[in-house]
Amino acid sequence: MRSICADLLLQRFDLDAAQPRNRQLYACLRAAILDGSLTPMSRLPSSRDLAQELGVSRNTVIHAYDQLLAEGYVHSRVGSGTFVSATAPDRFLNIDGADNRAAADTTTTPLSRRATRLIERAQAAPKQWGAFMPGVPDVTAFPHRQYARILAKLWRTPSPELLTYASGGGRPELRQALAAHLRIARSIRCDPEQILITEGVHQAIDLTVKMLVDPGQSVWVEDPGYWGFRSVLGMEPGIRVVAVPVDAQGLCIPHRPGRPRLIFVTPSHQYPLGSVMSMARRQELIAFARANGAWIVEDDYDSEFRFGGHPIPAMQGMDAATPVIYVGTFSKTLYPGLRMGYMVVPRGLAKAFHTAQADLYREGHALTQLALAQLIADGHYASHIRRMRLLYARRRSFLVGLIEKHLGAEFLHSQDSNAGLHVVLRLPDHVDDVALQQTLAQRGILVRALSRYYVRAKPQRGLLLGYAGVPESHITAAFGELLSVLRASGIGLSQR
Ligand SMILES: Cc1ncc(COP(=O)(O)O)c(C=O)c1O
Repeated sequence: MRSICADLLLQRFDLDAAQPRNRQLYACLRAAILDGSLTPMSRLPSSRDLAQELGVSRNTVIHAYDQLLAEGYVHSRVGSGTFVSATAPDRFLNIDGADNRAAADTTTTPLSRRATRLIERAQAAPKQWGAFMPGVPDVTAFPHRQYARILAKLWRTPSPELLTYASGGGRPELRQALAAHLRIARSIRCDPEQILITEGVHQAIDLTVKMLVDPGQSVWVEDPGYWGFRSVLGMEPGIRVVAVPVDAQGLCIPHRPGRPRLIFVTPSHQYPLGSVMSMARRQELIAFARANGAWIVEDDYDSEFRFGGHPIPAMQGMDAATPVIYVGTFSKTLYPGLRMGYMVVPRGLAKAFHTAQADLYREGHALTQLALAQLIADGHYASHIRRMRLLYARRRSFLVGLIEKHLGAEFLHSQDSNAGLHVVLRLPDHVDDVALQQTLAQRGILVRALSRYYVRAKPQRGLLLGYAGVPESHITAAFGELLSVLRASGIGLSQR
């Protein structure tokens, strides 16, 4: 069988060209190294093999290799062969300007207006783990041994249908297991047929808006609210995204509301402020949605983690036919990199959503879904959530204790409801919380500025501090840094 290197060269090698063959081969190899087709440290075929594969003399190859060696593009190890150099010689960087021209092209190529807006406002953090990254669970506590055992068993004899494209909303086993879990844990009313397994909340939002909203129609998001909704919705041309203020009871229906198609809410734990939507507001919103032909999209992203009082049931289950599309995720209960979530749609929409999901995104991950179904059915999922609830409750009260002791209870947000994976550190209105976020990032402390979650409402200032991801020792060290940055800015000086 021919080597990949020979395949590559044969596509570029012109046997009829006037140039000597060794010069041609040298030029082809050098170009392949420069454009990255031959990666640093990769091994070139032996001169004998390559000569045979290309149908040239061995001397031709030896000459070409020698020239590359002399110029530092490759190095040879006695007895092991010839390798592409790990570090490029200086002139690799601008051999004929081609690479630079390509780079310039990508920066001057105009993006679509909506992509430009997305890039300007992008908020996904490059670093996602460490104190105080909000919204991230303790990924080191994931029951990887049990999961690895389940996966290993499935990989022993995977049937073809587990490895090809899937269709129909996800593996029935996982939908079955989730329906049972959600019925008990979140009071959701659904059959497995109403469930779709998604690649997380973002995909669920993308699918929902594509399925239910036409250009010219509007959707509501909470203000302040999760930036991810705005990013996904902003990519849909012609859709009006209206930011609607929230108060301590939840979303406030405007006086002149119009007729939104979708209303995105986080009723069990408002993101980012932390309040629970009151029963009166829930009923008002359901009545409004029914009267106006709107769908409420309930994002139930972290409600497994409530540390005091009764669990708050989801809006979806408030009666037998709420106008609610329910969205959940394994990102908080297991780990975000899994990219797995779920949605529950009304019976009448289920078939269309299943078909569209398969056509739009070409479903897969069947094996992972089967493994998760097993994890749930074996009880590992529920017991992991129980253990994490205790762990996060402890870390939360540890961080809250530090804030109360060193800054004062007034620095805790009044809408906090003792749940989720972060607290909001409330700061005075004159404070530049975005600048604080940047200063802290330079010291390796990850926080998010509260004001960046606002669109039109007057922004409150503060910092979102995640406490779930790291142990108390990390929290203590990071809090010390935070305190010194705050004090250097004149914040919290009246406290000890
Ligand atoms: C309110 C809210 N919804 C959804 C998500 C993202 O969920 P997923 O990872 O499933 O896309 C997040 C992530 O932090 C979030 O804060």
